[in-house]
Amino acid sequence: MVDDIILETRGLRRDFGGVQALRGVNLQVHRTSITGLIGPNGSGKTTLFQVVSGMDRGGNGKVLFNDQPILGLRPWQIYRLGLARTFQLSRVFPGLTVLQNLLVAGRPGDRGARKRALGLIGRVKLCEHVNALGSELSYGQQRLVEFLRVLMCNPALILLDEPAAGVNPTLRHILWELVRHINGLGTSVLIIEHNMNVIADLCDPVYVLNEGEIIAQGDFDTVRADPRVLEAYFGRTQRSGGTTS
Ligand SMILES: Nc1ncnc2c1ncn2[C@@H]1O[C@H](COP(=O)(O)OP(=O)(O)OP(=O)(O)O)[C@@H](O)[C@H]1O
Ligand SMILES: [Mg+2]
Repeated sequence: MVDDIILETRGLRRDFGGVQALRGVNLQVHRTSITGLIGPNGSGKTTLFQVVSGMDRGGNGKVLFNDQPILGLRPWQIYRLGLARTFQLSRVFPGLTVLQNLLVAGRPGDRGARKRALGLIGRVKLCEHVNALGSELSYGQQRLVEFLRVLMCNPALILLDEPAAGVNPTLRHILWELVRHINGLGTSVLIIEHNMNVIADLCDPVYVLNEGEIIAQGDFDTVRADPRVLEAYFGRTQRSGGTTS
């Protein structure tokens, strides 16, 4: 694998009984890229994240992170290597404050953790909520806090599963700015997102999954013009090249 690639899957498969959720997926995430992963509902996007992050250990094939095979490792081992993820549904500790929610993810004995946490909270304009409980936050705020918690360990690669789903436009804007910011600092990002405007704006390259297979990859304009994508993802009615959002 060339040095430029931080994550690679080769022939990745995941079968759930009769359902072949991943059918030999080959995907590469270039270091410092924001790579998009799109596809219709049920196409296998979240399953890919589950297998790559070690949450689902039933996959077959190869997953290389920084050249190291990670399939079969446990989630915490993969996390420690620098590969972190968020979930499609928010997971914030309801009984902990915003600051505590971040500090639980800091490395033990890390004296800089508090400063880093407060810096992140300030960046997403949640300063006035620093002592609010997770349960007191709006859903969008919870998603931001979950994202910040993952950033506490300064991951080399972060997998984001529909991070803006259910988040209001103001917080969404803050969220996308944060993605750009961390990417500018050197964190690679692989992101599942349904909003094509966001994908077009943020991601290069984009991979398209359909029924467990990558059917197209490249920059957004290339991918959106691919007949297989128009048929499988955008639908037959949009053959003229319209976007969905
Ligand atoms: N734990 C599981 N057991 C059985 N089938 C599963 C399991 N997880 C996922 N599947 C199936 O695998 C397929 C892919 O699901 P997955 O959640 O990965 O899709 P997705 O692309 O993330 O969809 P969405 O856009 O709706 O989030 C679906 O057919 C789903 O029903
Ligand atoms: Mg999903």
